[in-house]
Amino acid sequence: MTSNSLWMDTLVMPAAGSLGGDAQCDVAVIGSGIAGISTAYELCKRGKSVMVIDRGRISGGMTSRTSAHLAPLCDDLVSEMTKIKGIEATRLFCESQAAAVDRIEAVQKQEAIDCDFRRLDGYLFQGRDMPADVIDQEMDAVRAVGAAVHRLVGVPFSGCEHRHVLRYPRQATFHPLKYLAGVAKACHDRGVQFFRDSPVDEVIEDGGGVLVKTARGRIVARHAVVATNSSISDRFAIHTKTAPYRTYVIAFAIPRGALPDALYWDTEEPYHYVRLQPGADKLDYLLVGGEDHKSGQADDAAERFARLEAWARELIPALGEETHRWSGQVLDTVDYAGFIGRDPGCKNIYIAMGDSGQGLTHGVAGAMLNTALIMGETHPWQELYEPGRVPLKAAKNFVMENSTAVKNFAEYIAPGEISSVDDLKRGQGAILRRGLDKIAAYRDERGELHLNSAACSHVGCHLHWNSFETCWDCPCHGSMFDIEGVPINAPAVGRLKRVD
Ligand code: FES
Repeated sequence: MTSNSLWMDTLVMPAAGSLGGDAQCDVAVIGSGIAGISTAYELCKRGKSVMVIDRGRISGGMTSRTSAHLAPLCDDLVSEMTKIKGIEATRLFCESQAAAVDRIEAVQKQEAIDCDFRRLDGYLFQGRDMPADVIDQEMDAVRAVGAAVHRLVGVPFSGCEHRHVLRYPRQATFHPLKYLAGVAKACHDRGVQFFRDSPVDEVIEDGGGVLVKTARGRIVARHAVVATNSSISDRFAIHTKTAPYRTYVIAFAIPRGALPDALYWDTEEPYHYVRLQPGADKLDYLLVGGEDHKSGQADDAAERFARLEAWARELIPALGEETHRWSGQVLDTVDYAGFIGRDPGCKNIYIAMGDSGQGLTHGVAGAMLNTALIMGETHPWQELYEPGRVPLKAAKNFVMENSTAVKNFAEYIAPGEISSVDDLKRGQGAILRRGLDKIAAYRDERGELHLNSAACSHVGCHLHWNSFETCWDCPCHGSMFDIEGVPINAPAVGRLKRVD
C-alpha cells in the first residue's frame, strides 16, 4: 500500500491557480498548511489584503499527514518541558496551546465548518513493562502548571485493565482538511488570493517592505509570514535548534462504539497513539501511530507498520481491515516550543515553524501571535516563542541533535550503497559513489535512471533514500526531494544538482 492519509482526499481551494506575474498585497503568506491558512484568516479578518502561496497543492504538505490530535499540553511530556523551561513558561505554553484549540472550536462554529470537531478526553497510559513513576511525575508536573488532570487505573484496551493512567479532560480532534477547506473558503470570501504550484525562491526585505521572488513573478508586500513547515527564509541559525523525525500512521475500519471516542497514547519510547475518526455505515476509522525515528536514519517502513499493526491488534481485537497508511515528518525543537515571531534580524518577515509533534495547535497559536505582531501589538506569548532565543537549559538536546549533522558529513567519505547503477532494481533508490562525489540514484518502474547529487541543496548534508515515500530525505533539517531532485519539503528551495 502506498502512502495515503485519511485526510488527503479532501481538497482545499481546488480552483486555485499558480501565480501569473507580479502582484502586491499587505501580507504574503508562504505555505498553505494550518499555520499559513490560519494566519491568512486572522489577517483578513483584521482588514489586511493577503496572498497565500505554496510550492504544491493548497494544504498538501505536512498538515495533510497529521494524526489530528489537538492537545493543549506538551507532546513531549509536561514534566520534560518544565525541566528546560521552568514552570511559569510551561504554564504559558500550555495556555497558548489550549487557546489554539479554543480558537479552532470558535472558528469552525462561526464559519459553520462541518469538520467533525469534538471535545473529548485524552488518556496517557503506562506502556508495557514501563514503570508507573513516569505517570506520577507527569501528574505532578501537569498539576504544577495548573492544567486539569485525573489519575486512574485501566484503559479500555485488552490486557490494559491494570495500567496506570492520566485522564486529561477537554482535549479535542477534528478532520484537519475539512476544517482548512472551510477556513480557506472564508478567507477567499474576504478577498484572500491563493496560488498553488508556485515555489518561492527567496524572501527578502526590500525598501521597508518585503519581496517574495518566484519564477512565476514577484509579490511586493508590507510583510511576509513564512509558514513552510521549516523556514525557507532563515538559512542556518534557526535550523540548528530543530531536528526532523518521521512518524508512521495506519488507519483501520472499526465498528462504531467498539472503543470510546477519546485520544490515547502511552509512555513507551517511541510512543504509540490511538484516536478515532467518524466514517460511514456504522464503521469508524481507528488511527494508530508511532514508531518514530530521526528522518533519514531508517528505511524500514514495512517493518514499522507491521509492529504498529501487531501492537494495535493485540490491544484492540475489534479492529477490521486496514484502509490507509502514511508517514509524516515532525520538526522537534530543542526546548519543545515552536519558533514563532519576527525572523531574527528582520523587521517585516515573520516565521512559524518547529511543530514539535503538535503542529495543528502550534500553527494556530502562531497565526494568533504573528497577526498581533503585524498589527503592531505586543503579545504575552512573544518571548515564549521568540525565534532568536537561546535555550541554555536545552544544551543537551542541542548537542545531541546537531551531532546528526556532524555524523552526516562524515558519510561523504563512506563507500556507496551500490557500486554500479546496474545494481539498481526498478523502483529502487540508493547512494552511489563516483570519484569524490556521492550520487542519489533512482531507477523508475519503466527502467529509466534519475541521477542527482546526494548533497542537499539547503546546506549540503548527505541525503538518504525513503522507499515508502519514494523521495530523498535530509536528516539534518528535514528537506525532502522527489526523484527528479525537486524539493518537496522546506527548508530547501533549490533543486539537487543534476548528474549526467
Ligand atoms: Fe539542511 Fe538538508 S535540510 S542540509
